[in-house]
Amino acid sequence: MSEVQILESVQIFLQRQHGHFIHGQHLEVDRQRLALINPATEQTVAHIAIGNQQDVDEAVESAQDAFINAWADTSPYERGQKLNKLADLIEFYAEELAQLETLTTGKLIHLARHLEVAQSVVFLRYFAGWATKVHGQTMQPSLPSMNGEKYTAYTIRQPVGVVAGIVPWNFSLMIGCWKIGSALTTGCTIVLKPSEFTTLSLLRVAELAIEAGIPKGVINVVTGTGETGQYLINSKHVKKISFTGSVPTGIAIAKQAMTNDLTRVSLELGGKNAAAILADANLDEILPNLLQATFVHQGQVCAAPERFFVHQSKYDEFTQKITAALQHFKIGSPLDESTMFGPLSNKAHFEKIKHFLDIAQQNDQIICGGRVIQGAGYFVEPTLLKVRDVDDPLFIEETFGPVVDVIPFESDEELISMMNHSRFGLTASIWSNDLSKALRLIPQIEAGSVWVNMHTFLDPAVPFGGVKASGLGREFSDAFIEDYTELKSVMIRY
Ligand code: NAI
Repeated sequence: MSEVQILESVQIFLQRQHGHFIHGQHLEVDRQRLALINPATEQTVAHIAIGNQQDVDEAVESAQDAFINAWADTSPYERGQKLNKLADLIEFYAEELAQLETLTTGKLIHLARHLEVAQSVVFLRYFAGWATKVHGQTMQPSLPSMNGEKYTAYTIRQPVGVVAGIVPWNFSLMIGCWKIGSALTTGCTIVLKPSEFTTLSLLRVAELAIEAGIPKGVINVVTGTGETGQYLINSKHVKKISFTGSVPTGIAIAKQAMTNDLTRVSLELGGKNAAAILADANLDEILPNLLQATFVHQGQVCAAPERFFVHQSKYDEFTQKITAALQHFKIGSPLDESTMFGPLSNKAHFEKIKHFLDIAQQNDQIICGGRVIQGAGYFVEPTLLKVRDVDDPLFIEETFGPVVDVIPFESDEELISMMNHSRFGLTASIWSNDLSKALRLIPQIEAGSVWVNMHTFLDPAVPFGGVKASGLGREFSDAFIEDYTELKSVMIRY
């Protein structure tokens, strides 16, 4: 096993006394602290502060001040330029950021480099381009004209103000950058609350933002737990909450937002995503892509499939071929560039996945995988399960891990009925060369995104978000603009 060398700059960063990042500087605070654990080794890599009410107030006041006195009035061109500069710096420090992510999330180093960091850059540059393209419309009112008076009307889009960005642990840097990009390009400022498990990369990005010339207070980071997040969403200056995380937390936050004078809220939540493998699919052709989409980052991806629906005629071939392929997954250190499958990201999640595997074991549902790997680190095998029927708890609950169900279907009607038998509706995919059939199925699938012959791919030009309990609102494309701006109507008589 050969692991990549941890950069000296990363080692120095880890040893710091981490605080929050408020008003353009690192703020050391004497607060209760939390250990950040490397999930591959179970060793502590750093400690972070648990932000309290006072810390959150300070961060939000800084963001409010920066909104009023700096950022909202910065020209769109300059906002875009500064976001591009931030993207350049993230690219420049890519290896440092990738290593921080791998050390705290267990993400494979090549995934941290080529997906997490590289896509953060791509998304920030995309958002930077929107700064100069947010505009209103003119319209012609039909009001009566008694004495020759005329009317005209137009709309302007204005930034809502301070955004609270609450980030989960699976792709902290990239999801944090989505929130930074959406807020800053529209003229909003932001207070980020990263996950308590993976906090470091966003603290580093906040420093880089100052280097990029983004005024102090425009991006603030308060570290801590869910309680810290609670203080943030309840702050009176917060005008929009952008939350990515679990369904129960998302629903609680949305309720709170409504009682706080209807604070705007967008939610990107969980999924129990379906991949439908139709009768004509060539399994040898599709399996490499399907497996990668499913087990990327150990399945800890909200958009990844967790339910395979396979046409009855292909079911046996499918389970045999998946079993053979998964046995060749090289499981090991995420810092080893040849590893194909790393640890789960944190202990709580490891316990949750072990619980699902225990149930599957007891009910004799494991087709392949299913074992916990002994020794240090939160490692389990990638697992394929058979389910009894669509009411099987393992078919219903999101695992957010490398545990996937497979179930056969015969007719298209049965397929659609089973795919939609879920409280979630984030993503789905159809694997087939029968385009006519795929086009007929797509409108019937209850999901925010449907892919054909691919799954788990996001692109900034394509809107993303869930239906049913998977979320509220859409990110990317031009869909995010509505959420981060107020539409003001102006009517003039002349
Ligand atoms: P989580 O809901 O426990 O935590 C998410 C964030 O919310 C963390 O920063 C946490 O500290 C904060 N938080 C927790 N309670 C809070 C409260 N009462 N008020 C304010 N903030 C609070 O989710 P976790 O465990 O971090 O992420 C895993 C879950 O997120 C999975 O269920 C997954 O499906 C979902 N997820 C969805 C994504 C999407 O785009 N739809 C992307 C990534 C994860």
